[in-house]
Amino acid sequence: MENNFSEKELNPLASIEEWEDDVLVRYPEPFEKSKEEYRNYVDSARQDTVKEFYRLNHTFQTYEFAKNKQEHFLKFDKKEMSIWDAVDFLNTLIDDSDPDTSMDQLQHLLQTSEAIRQDGHPDWFVLTGFMHDLGKVLCLFGEPQWAVVGDTFPTGCKHSEKIVYSEFFAENPDSRDPRYNTKYGIYEPNCGLDNVQMSWGHDEYIYRIMKPYIPEEGLYMLRYHSFYSQHREHAYDHLMNAHDHEMFKWVDKFNPYDLYSKVPYPPNVQELRPYYEDLVAKYLPATLKF
Ligand SMILES: [Fe+2]
Ligand SMILES: [Fe+2]
Repeated sequence: MENNFSEKELNPLASIEEWEDDVLVRYPEPFEKSKEEYRNYVDSARQDTVKEFYRLNHTFQTYEFAKNKQEHFLKFDKKEMSIWDAVDFLNTLIDDSDPDTSMDQLQHLLQTSEAIRQDGHPDWFVLTGFMHDLGKVLCLFGEPQWAVVGDTFPTGCKHSEKIVYSEFFAENPDSRDPRYNTKYGIYEPNCGLDNVQMSWGHDEYIYRIMKPYIPEEGLYMLRYHSFYSQHREHAYDHLMNAHDHEMFKWVDKFNPYDLYSKVPYPPNVQELRPYYEDLVAKYLPATLKF
């Protein structure tokens, strides 16, 4: 599958971290940091690149695009790696845009999983935290940033106005396609999210890779952790069934660990490694197919 995008269209952001920084601006940690502080942190030049990122994401993530990407990547014929090789591989995505505040990818994963562990959650939940962003290796397969990170949303039906920068969906061909631009589009009311084609990104990808290995609660966390218009705005209740609602309690539980576990000191990778070696060995085979 060929990407016919220019370098600027492939990589509008200096680093994929900029999307997550922007999510923090939208959903600051309650009571701790004001929106203002985050606004100051994300300067206006960054806000422009983030805006361009959403423009590209909302323009090109159509139902067909998501379906095709999914088909392409779910062949899992790109690379076979151990989790540790995948983590090292992901870590080659270095964020050099802001050396003072940025952590590498491994540090983000460990901060997330360690915060989960410290709260005494079951070990599969800790493992889920440790794995949740491994799907970002898509970037290293040459994928556009807006097809790896960014808020995810249902395709094949009307785009909610509660999705960030929803005005950019005017450029998405699906918004003019009568099959896809009604409230339910190609879906039945409360059909269940498993029947819904989400926009393509690192969430769906890592979910599919981990599907045989961890409990369903963890799978929901992986699959929907960037679906902010639902877990924060409840914009798609009309597509969810009772089971989705039950499982989204776990997505909600996970989200603060992803967003708010960024402490300024890096985790001690050497010290933590033996625990994670055991945890990975308990749930996963020696290698996984990407
Ligand atoms: Fe993520
Ligand atoms: Fe994350």
